[in-house]
Amino acid sequence: MTVMDTPNGFGYPRPSATGAAGPGPEEQPAESVTLADDAELDLSADEAAARVEQTLASLDAELVGLAPVKRRVREIASLLQVDRARRQFGLTSSRPTLHMSFTGGPGTGKTTVALRMAAILHALGYIRAPRVHTVTRDDLVGQFIGHTAPKTKEAIARAAGGVLFIDEAYYLFRPENERDYGQEVIEILLTEMENERGDLVVIFAGYPDRMTTFFSANPGLSSRVPHHIAFDDYSYPELLQIAGLMVASENFRFDEAAHQAFSEYLSRRMEQPRFSNARSVRNAIERSRLRQARRLVELRRPLRKEDLVTLTADDIYGSSVFLDSTDQSG
Ligand SMILES: Nc1ncnc2c1ncn2[C@@H]1O[C@H](COP(=O)(O)OP(=O)(O)OP(=O)(O)O)[C@@H](O)[C@H]1O
Ligand SMILES: [Mg+2]
Repeated sequence: MTVMDTPNGFGYPRPSATGAAGPGPEEQPAESVTLADDAELDLSADEAAARVEQTLASLDAELVGLAPVKRRVREIASLLQVDRARRQFGLTSSRPTLHMSFTGGPGTGKTTVALRMAAILHALGYIRAPRVHTVTRDDLVGQFIGHTAPKTKEAIARAAGGVLFIDEAYYLFRPENERDYGQEVIEILLTEMENERGDLVVIFAGYPDRMTTFFSANPGLSSRVPHHIAFDDYSYPELLQIAGLMVASENFRFDEAAHQAFSEYLSRRMEQPRFSNARSVRNAIERSRLRQARRLVELRRPLRKEDLVTLTADDIYGSSVFLDSTDQSG
């Protein structure tokens, strides 16, 4: 048995050392050193664990709310850590299956969390690159007979070693059309997801009701997706907090009156159709930046840093949400 230069003895290749071009899991070297039955292993001393802890901490700090999601992400991280530890004691078991579904309304953070998840899976050596390849039905389904399989296989190949994120996955299933090529995609995915030695994590994402229907119509698929993570709509205070984070991270700030104006904006916007949680908040901030820019240009005077960073109440009240119109953009 060869001894690898891994002081902690974990047998997975270190992502930082192997990089995206490193060996796939199927080529991973056998465990380097098997610990004695009475040895002790300090999980917190593992380098990968430290990286994961870092990612989890930034998930906590940079994403508002999402308590159940954060809990599930931690659980999955623990599962992988313990799996690594078990291998070190020579305890073999099958590679944990980590295909997932992310269900939640628009703008609830599904795409954002998928990126963090990829970082964690990568830090623990489960995937080769912290990469998410996002696709929708059109990227997988061909227009003509014989076109679907190559398209789907190409998407899978591009995602290999990382995460394949299938957005609005239910569009793959069209029960009203027996010959729909979506079925072919599902079959190819099933085979790929079964593959014990595969190095692909598939995340199915979409709105809750339709995802439930999708999985119940495809029990084969459902049984290969052990992790279902539900993203709730954000509460009003959470959305205000998200706005604060977004404004600060772009080096802006609301002045006092703007804070008030934004909270009024939000309570109105939440009542309107097509409200999309954090995405609507981001769009609203983008548009207030636009109004700020117009206001500053029209000032026709030298500007200070203070002017450039400040979003005022006027920049918010300019929104159509404050008109008695039916405009429901963003
Ligand atoms: N909890 C959060 N804290 C801070 N920002 C957030 C949070 N959730 C989402 N955002 C921000 O809101 C925007 C929308 O999030 P994201 O794209 O992840 O949502 P989604 O669920 O994938 O939406 P859709 O279903 O429309 O694809 C992004 O800019 C993201 O950074
Ligand atoms: Mg998304």
